[in-house]
Amino acid sequence: MTDDQRTDAPRTDAPRPCPGPAAAPRGAASPRKLYVKSFGCQMNVYDAERMIDTLAPEGFISVEVAEDADLVVLNTCHIREKAAEKVYSELGRLRVLKEAAAAEGRKLMVAVAGCVAQAEGADMVRRAPVVDLVVGPQSYHRLPELVARAADRPGLVETALTPEDKFDRLAPPSPAAIAGRGTAAFVTIQEGCSRFCTFCVVPGTRGGEVSRPVAAVLADVTRLANAGVREITVLGQNVNAYRGEGPDGAPWKLPRLLARLAEVPGIARLRYATSHPRAMSDELIAAHRDLPQLMPYLHLPVQSGSDRILAAMNRRHGRDLYFERIDRVRAARPDIAISSDFIVGFPGETDAEFADTMDLVRRVGFASAYSFKYSPRPGTPAAAMEAQVPDAVKSERLTALQALLEAQQRAFNAASVGRTVEVLFEKPGRLPGQIVGKSPHLQAVHVQAGPEMLGRIVPVRLVAVGSHTLFGELEDAAARPIAV
Ligand code: SAH
Ligand code: SF4
Ligand code: F3S
Repeated sequence: MTDDQRTDAPRTDAPRPCPGPAAAPRGAASPRKLYVKSFGCQMNVYDAERMIDTLAPEGFISVEVAEDADLVVLNTCHIREKAAEKVYSELGRLRVLKEAAAAEGRKLMVAVAGCVAQAEGADMVRRAPVVDLVVGPQSYHRLPELVARAADRPGLVETALTPEDKFDRLAPPSPAAIAGRGTAAFVTIQEGCSRFCTFCVVPGTRGGEVSRPVAAVLADVTRLANAGVREITVLGQNVNAYRGEGPDGAPWKLPRLLARLAEVPGIARLRYATSHPRAMSDELIAAHRDLPQLMPYLHLPVQSGSDRILAAMNRRHGRDLYFERIDRVRAARPDIAISSDFIVGFPGETDAEFADTMDLVRRVGFASAYSFKYSPRPGTPAAAMEAQVPDAVKSERLTALQALLEAQQRAFNAASVGRTVEVLFEKPGRLPGQIVGKSPHLQAVHVQAGPEMLGRIVPVRLVAVGSHTLFGELEDAAARPIAV
């Protein structure tokens, strides 16, 4: 098993080609072609869309493959070594493409954005001279200017961590751009993190925690809803600690923001990610009971089941707090699906401490989870700790943990079979005549139905379970496609 294997559909590290098509270009005679490839978390997915929207008025249209592009942006992730190293294999491939383009008299510009850009800055250009521009996450609103400057002066690096709200300065997406992206969308409501877990690079790559004002979030969500989006996942590394300035000037917390977003016409479903156990407030737990739009799914990373390891990670809570929060969430919303993140082989982790993690998993019962081998990251306190765990031990523990989590996920999905659930259909399936959507519990559901169902929320009877997916039938016979 590898570091990056997990027990759910990939969330981090999976390459995500940018969603297209983007807005029609304004002004420029012939459009320039832009390809954005994102790695990492959902925030990078959101950022990729905003980059496309910000470059659209400059005459850029997005394309599906790097081979067609005039500008390639790699939107990178630094969270684990494997994620960061992927960038360099991509850059090797792009070097070949760039040389081929030059031989044809064409110019291919290569930009690196995201958390590796922030962490490595000028070192990237030294290590990979194919890179024309390095741009950190706080500077995306300056992309048009930076791209123009890098065209004349390749090797430009912009990684300032400024407190200004880049989101206010990024271009809003056009209705056409949003419509091309489907019916479920991410909206970043908080950037950065100030928690400083000892293993984590995020406070360094994204800066301190900043919450966007309520009005800005509301404007984003309203625009998305007007373009047909039905489901919003609000994002932050510590999203349940959201404290954005409200229209009244007072700070609003997440439950109040969610209640307000639920009033936006067209928004039928709300989710949030990622939460910290300590910030799981009574009000937020009550929202899972009282706000029908808030989906019964909670991603609450715990990382470890050992109190000593949790303390060494600077998570600032023990296993009992986790159990207590889960009990309260389940009391408020008994059918809630619980998901989590785990790290195995944190420095000094003993067999007994790993057994505590296995015990926690057995006691909680997860619907899905992501699990990783601890990866020492430059500049983090844990990387300098003694007693680093050998890779073979990490692999063994990851295999055992993932087997348990997989079994729990299969059991959770199997228990859904026979039930009727509301599915929001998002995209065509792989097989002809099939479409795919999400259940309230964030399970992928495949159904035989026509494309006219995309964007609709309809009752589906779940009839079978695959390895990570469910198969269903439309409950309403009238909505079923007519057999020919
Ligand atoms: N803000 C979120 C986590 C963001 S990073 C939270 O606190 O829950 C996503 C996940 O990557 C983390 O939950 C953790 O499980 C994993 N991760 C982060 N740093 C890591 C490291 N150095 N090695 C292995 N996994 C790591
Ligand atoms: Fe990283 Fe911890 Fe912040 Fe999550 S809460 S982003 S793990 S420092
Ligand atoms: Fe990766 Fe940066 Fe997200 S390190 S997980 S892309 S915040």
